[in-house]
Amino acid sequence: MRRKLVAGNWKMHKNLTESQALITEIRGIVRDEFRKSQAEIVVCPTALALASAAKLVEGTDVQIGAQNIHEAIEGAFTGEWSAQMLSSISVTHAIIGHSERRQYFNETSKQCSLKIKSAVSEGITSLYCVGETLEERESEKHFEVIEDQLNEGLEGITADEMSNVVIAYEPVWAIGTGKTASSDQAQEVHAFIRAQVEKKYGKAISDTIRILYGGSVKPGNAGELFSQADIDGGLIGGASLKARDFFEIIQAAV
Ligand code: PGA
Repeated sequence: MRRKLVAGNWKMHKNLTESQALITEIRGIVRDEFRKSQAEIVVCPTALALASAAKLVEGTDVQIGAQNIHEAIEGAFTGEWSAQMLSSISVTHAIIGHSERRQYFNETSKQCSLKIKSAVSEGITSLYCVGETLEERESEKHFEVIEDQLNEGLEGITADEMSNVVIAYEPVWAIGTGKTASSDQAQEVHAFIRAQVEKKYGKAISDTIRILYGGSVKPGNAGELFSQADIDGGLIGGASLKARDFFEIIQAAV
């Protein structure tokens, strides 16, 4: 049985005070209403709020993730931070290769593989994002695109290290657009991703790896998406900025 995982990606929203307030609100709801059998919960605020968010969730069922990391341990990389720095402040997860990083910061899958390697070496779980653009879907290239993203992004990642990797399927056309992939469309790609993982790492790993869906997940559609055989939770953008909506999505992931 794979335990579901729901992660909130706050993107570049919420200043420090607002982040602390939202974490405190989520923490309170989780403390009062969360049942242990439910999903694993991860919240990914901006880098600015990571240290204080990690302190605020100490001893709770909420974990903190970063939205990006640099692949090196340290060095002359202005504006960046490393996996080692994140683990020193008890950050446990990192989103790697989000489509916005690929689109606006020219991140490649090859670079993502180095980031994943660096994250796993520090015991940080990578949420590795893959997904096609609208144009790629319309020209029916989506399986090919995703296969390349998986092959390149997981290059050099060993079977042992895969226990610290989660994959997130996020069709770019569904992110922030209000257009969700239908549960059939999502399930089809998730099954494909699991088959790719099986080809590379074998059945034991493909049976246990978690594959999240992301792209306009809301309380109203989460249940149907999460009930698909190969959908193991979600990576939630917009709806994760409202504590109650985010918690309803977590509740849909039983
Ligand atoms: P969205 O974003 O839920 O706002 O569509 C998802 C994501 O980018 O991870």
